[in-house]
Amino acid sequence: MKKTKKTIVSVALATSLALSISSTYTAAAPVAQSSSSQAYNAVDKKVLNKINVDNIYNDIEYLAKTPRVAGTAAEHKAAWYIQKKLKSFGYKANVEPFTFVGYTEASKVELSADGTSYSPSSFTYSVNGNVSAEVVYAGLATKEELATQDLTGKVALIQRGSISFGEKVLNAAEKGAKAVIIYNNADGELNGTLGGANDSYVPAVALSKAEGEQLLEKVKAGTLTATVNIEGAEVSERISYNVTATKSPTEKKRNTDDIIVIGAHHDSVEGAPGANDDASGTAMVIELARVLKSLPTDTELRFVTFGAEELGLIGSQEYVDGLSHDEKDRIVGMFNLDMVGSRDAGDLVLKTADGKANFVTKLAQASSLRLNGAATPYSEGGRSDHVPFAEAGIPAALFIHDPAEPWYHTPEDSIDKISKEKLQDVAEIVGTAVYDRARPDHKGPKAQRGQSFKAPELYYQQDLK
Ligand code: BES
Ligand code: ZN
Repeated sequence: MKKTKKTIVSVALATSLALSISSTYTAAAPVAQSSSSQAYNAVDKKVLNKINVDNIYNDIEYLAKTPRVAGTAAEHKAAWYIQKKLKSFGYKANVEPFTFVGYTEASKVELSADGTSYSPSSFTYSVNGNVSAEVVYAGLATKEELATQDLTGKVALIQRGSISFGEKVLNAAEKGAKAVIIYNNADGELNGTLGGANDSYVPAVALSKAEGEQLLEKVKAGTLTATVNIEGAEVSERISYNVTATKSPTEKKRNTDDIIVIGAHHDSVEGAPGANDDASGTAMVIELARVLKSLPTDTELRFVTFGAEELGLIGSQEYVDGLSHDEKDRIVGMFNLDMVGSRDAGDLVLKTADGKANFVTKLAQASSLRLNGAATPYSEGGRSDHVPFAEAGIPAALFIHDPAEPWYHTPEDSIDKISKEKLQDVAEIVGTAVYDRARPDHKGPKAQRGQSFKAPELYYQQDLK
């Protein structure tokens, strides 16, 4: 909402609009909307008046001092900080641990052959080892190709393609290989993952196409001995946390029995301070928890920051797995705030796992239209914590600016790239959308379940499919 051109519909109209929408979710009186007029209502205003973007900015600044890789002390410190903030608003906030198998990249990766040093990288989940042995060409290392090959005690030279890196390593190891070199089938560096930890792996390094072909020439020309050395890699069980705070409905008699989840992930990738990905969403969850704490509500609100998103949506999957059947049924919407404040990213979009509109996109389109005169568009998109919720049948959407900023997952994802204007816009849209559903004027238990929500068509300028 642009503060400079605030146009408020008459109080009487705003109130009647608010009542007609909230009490029935059916036909509301048409209100002229254009990109230059805003028509947020008196209920929206309760939320808007409370949002303080400096709180969001300051929390991002604190969180983004360092990378917060899941399982590290920095992530744990972030989780305590979030819990402390939520407690300071009067919530009984919990830090909920879960374990996962983590991998620390090798600190040393070396390959030499015939007096030449090459520049390998290691595969994620490779094991350590120092192996000197004869190099044997093993093609693509499919099971069929290796059926008649004995690689016992050898270093297998393998080309990229056709099957996964992990399968190649396992196939070669099964045939007795003591180490594996996989080279690229296209130009450029090869940085891969074996997909997961496995006790049957042997040390595996990646090479460029040029260096791989150079080795292959030497193998063809005569016996070649190579030394593969990988040090410092580590697979271990680690702990990460989800941080949760719940606001029970304040209007017990009107309690809809429904739940809304507002979430973000507090972890980052290695080497990136993750100011936008996703300290921005985390700080916004904290601020919305503060804003909504003091407002009357008829719907349960859950504020959750997830750990280990960057390692495969682990925290949000844990959270969803921990929900009872009844809870899954009662969650009418999951708002996932991920990358919501970059000055260098595009416009706000809503992403759903199936590309279809749902209760969350409808609430957000309605609020963005009321606030800004234009409904935020939606499209298909995964890659974040709304996915496990969607897979469990819960209406969920990702709030993100698209296209992403060039600093995404880099050391440059820092506080200086954060735009207060972008943060303000998203916090307003999400805060008023959530409160549109949680305001205490619905009709008691299960009267307005998300799936049966019928919002006035007037609120959606674009086709909802
Ligand atoms: N915030 C990103 C997701 C994202 C980035 C969506 C840019 C759309 C555009 C998230 O933290 C992330 O990095 N996700 C991973 C996948 C995840 C399953 C580990 C990704 O997209 O690589
Ligand atoms: Zn990310």
